[in-house]
Amino acid sequence: MDSIDDSLAGRVALVTGACGGIGRAICQRLAAEGVRLVLVDRDAEGVEALASSLASDTFVSVVDVSDAEAVASQHEYIVRQFSEIDILVNCAGILSNNKLLTTDPGEWRHVMSVNLDSALYWSQAVVPRMRDKGFGRIINITSFAWKAGGLTAGTAYTTSKGGMVSLTFSIAREFAGQGITVNGIAPCYVMTPMVSEQLTEEQRRTTLELLPVKRFCTPEEVAHTVRFLASPLSGFITGEIIDMNGGLQFD
Ligand SMILES: NC(=O)c1ccc[n+]([C@@H]2O[C@H](COP(=O)([O-])OP(=O)(O)OC[C@H]3O[C@@H](n4cnc5c(N)ncnc54)[C@H](O)[C@@H]3O)[C@@H](O)[C@H]2O)c1
Repeated sequence: MDSIDDSLAGRVALVTGACGGIGRAICQRLAAEGVRLVLVDRDAEGVEALASSLASDTFVSVVDVSDAEAVASQHEYIVRQFSEIDILVNCAGILSNNKLLTTDPGEWRHVMSVNLDSALYWSQAVVPRMRDKGFGRIINITSFAWKAGGLTAGTAYTTSKGGMVSLTFSIAREFAGQGITVNGIAPCYVMTPMVSEQLTEEQRRTTLELLPVKRFCTPEEVAHTVRFLASPLSGFITGEIIDMNGGLQFD
């Protein structure tokens, strides 16, 4: 086999939840590598501000990722106006901490649609062209909650992230022979507003005591793992979920 060029320069990545804590770090990291970026978020102001801060070719897409028709039509628009997609990072997500007996049907459906359905819709949109080109990278930002049952995270969130893992396995299996890899990253307690604002002071203190590395994960560390999985040199890794849990669980 010929040697594989590890460069990402000139590739096109679509990142959902682009202007959130983790999404922003991913976009900054990929932009620094010369990746052209489609920034997807529902936060129009935030995503425009991010676009103007990046030293890379960018395209802004303001869309609710839980809306199947909106995702399909935005994708067609992106392809017409900007480019086909080489790398898809499904990062948009919402947290809900309600456990079983306090999760109502509306909340359940909302969390599922944003965290899980969106990854299906974007994957369905990009995969046909990835298959035609014989190259694609799909990276799903799931969560440690999927295997831990959610330490502080609620039932809907935890289940949505478990569903994302199964979706990763299913698409990875189906397209392994066509140059498309599909992997997940399962972080826990990344220092973004999800942790700084949505955990109580008491939860933050006990979590830090519990974490063997004695600190929270940083968004830049997650971005580093995205870059690794996006690499052409990572083509033999598919259907893998990379834990980033600071030593909470080994397996
Ligand atoms: N922060 C953590 O500790 C942690 C741990 C594990 C997994 N994660 C996952 O990482 C991802 C990013 O988390 P974060 O901490 O950066 O959160 P964040 O709240 O900072 O960012 C989430 C982004 O998603 C966008 N978004 C939400 N709903 C949307 C919708 N319907 N349509 C379009 N955009 C939407 C938001 O506008 C926001 O920019 C999420 O999927 C989250 O579940 C986070």
